[in-house]
This record gives sequence, C-alpha cells and structure tokens, in this order.
Amino acid sequence: MLDKLKEIETTALAALEKVQDESALEAWRVTYLGRSSALMNLFGALGALSKEERPRLGQAANQVKKALEAAFADRAAALKAAALQRSLAGERLDVTLPGRPLPRGRLHPDTQTLREIYRVFGEMGFQVYRAREVETDEYNYQLLNFPIGHPARDMQDTYFLEAEGRGDNPLLLRTHTSPGQIRSMREFSAMNPADPPPVRIILPGMCYRYEQVTTRHETQFDQVEGLAVGPGITFSDLKGTLADFARRMFGQSVRTRFRASHFPFTEPSAEFDVECFLCGGTGCGVCKGAGWLEIGGCGMVHPVVLQNGGYDPARYTGFAFGLGPQRIAMLRHRIEDIRYFWQNDLRFLEQF
Ligand code: DAH
Repeated sequence: MLDKLKEIETTALAALEKVQDESALEAWRVTYLGRSSALMNLFGALGALSKEERPRLGQAANQVKKALEAAFADRAAALKAAALQRSLAGERLDVTLPGRPLPRGRLHPDTQTLREIYRVFGEMGFQVYRAREVETDEYNYQLLNFPIGHPARDMQDTYFLEAEGRGDNPLLLRTHTSPGQIRSMREFSAMNPADPPPVRIILPGMCYRYEQVTTRHETQFDQVEGLAVGPGITFSDLKGTLADFARRMFGQSVRTRFRASHFPFTEPSAEFDVECFLCGGTGCGVCKGAGWLEIGGCGMVHPVVLQNGGYDPARYTGFAFGLGPQRIAMLRHRIEDIRYFWQNDLRFLEQF
C-alpha cells in the first residue's frame, strides 16, 4: 500500500507539471484529489487494515494528500501570476511615447502688422479708438469737408446701403477711417465743451470701396487713422511722430519724406513715404525703381473739421494721418497680391 501511495504521488505531480491553464488545473484536482480519486479510495480502504498498520499508513496517506494540495496551490498561484504578466505585456501603455501633435494656430499676417502698429503708437501715447463701419454720408464725407458733389468723392467709390427717405444722408460702408475723427472728437469734446480735452488716438479698422479687384486693390482693406488735437500742435509734431513711427516699425536708420498732396479734411496735406527697406533707396522691383514706398496720407486737421468735432480752431490745432497696414505688410513680407489676405488659403497664412 505504501508503494501504491508513492506511485499516486509521483504520477499526480508529473501530471501537474503539464498543467498550463485553469481548466486543466481543475480537471487535475478532480482526478487526483476528488472524491473518487485513487487517493480518496485508498483512504476508504484504510478501515480494512489491522490496528497496527492503520496509523502508519493513515499518516503516510495524509502526507501525500497535503503534498498534493500544496503543489496544487503553488501551481494555481503560478498560473495566476503568469496570466497577470501576459495581460500586462499585452496591454502595455508606453507613457514615454510622444503625444499626438496639436495643430498650432497663429495670427493672421494682417493682425500681426496691426498689433505692431498699435504697439508702436501705444509707446508714443496713442490710444486705440474703434469707430463704426456702417456710416452716414454726413460723417464719411460732409463733416470731413467733402460737401455733396465735391470732386474728391470720386476717389472713393462707395457702397451705399440705404438711401430711400434719407435725403442727402444715405447710409454707406465707410470708405476710410477718417469719419472716426469726427466721432471721437465729438465724444471727447462733449465731456467738457468749454474746454475739450486733448486727443491722441489711432482708429484702426475695415474700410470698403467699390473697386475693381486687382493685385493692389481689394473691396475691403484696413486703415489705421491717427489723430492728435491739442493747443499748439504743429506740422513738425506730425513729421516727428510719423518719422519716429517709421524708425520703430522699419528700423532706426530708415529715412522718410513728405510730399505735398491734397485731402479735403487736412490743410496742408502730404503723402508720407519711407525709404525702400529692400534696396535702401537705390531702386528695385518692390519700389518700382523709385527708392521710396508710399505708406499713407497725412496733414494738419482742417479748421472746418476741428469745428465739426467741437474743437475751436482758434484755440486748437491738430494733425491726422491714414496708414494702410495691408500695404505695410505687403512691403515687409514682399507679398505681391493683396487678394491673398482674405482668401484664407492656409498655404499662404501658414508662412507667417
Ligand atoms: N482718408 C484718406 C483715404 O482714405 C487717408 C488719409 C489721408 C487720412 C490723410 C488722414 C489724412 O487722416 O490726414 O484716402
């Protein structure tokens, strides 16, 4: 009977070695430790033994049972650990993998230029003042000294929005930012009509003209208007301000010049040029051989305009200017076609 026990133990342990998964393990338990297993049958047979033999064999059988139970537990633990390892390896998360790149947005080249202009004038003490884009004939023209029928109106082909019942004052899309001069001066002078405060502002924003679209002309474009009003402001203040703007915007060594011109709302009036920063004044394709680039118009605010804004021209003077930021951006980046600005083609926009 001892031999039989030994044999049961050896075969059971050998079979356990081959067990690879939980269902095979359960089958092994039923076969070798189950109620009808050889071992259990042997326990049943103990009763037939003599009093002397019974304890010795009983003890030996118990030892085999314990050994098989311990081996079973070990095997169960080993299988569980192996299963855990497998699932860890299979579902591994590599936290060191680089993340998926997020596409980065950027500012439109026009916005970039505008913000730089705001920064430069901000350093010189100019505030940004926003005026409306839908204007009346009165503000866009009449109060700026373009009466009805004035020939200078022909320069600004206008989108009229509503004329019926409005007489000589139709609604329109502003053709320039200059009507903001009247709006802002009226707002400031209303604060203290007897002694209006000085004005030092820039007025940026969209303007609209019924133009034929070409590489240089769009039906909508930005302007940055400037306005400074106060006692004793002179043309040299205007020159100094714009020359300083050009130096801060294009570089300390850039030269500037003023050419006599005409605008109804300034007297005297001038065009403002900067030295071509590409060729340094010798002449190239960008400046068309001139060596100079036109940046905008300017002048001393016309007395009629001051009056219309609520500023007494006997006590106050002022200067104004109008810059074309798209033009500045085109010159700086050598953009050859103004139509790129509003086409929203990423191949263009992503270059800035
Ligand atoms: N409003 C003018 C235009 O659109 C630009 C301009 C010229 C504005 C001279 C000014 C100025 O303030 O002084 O053509």
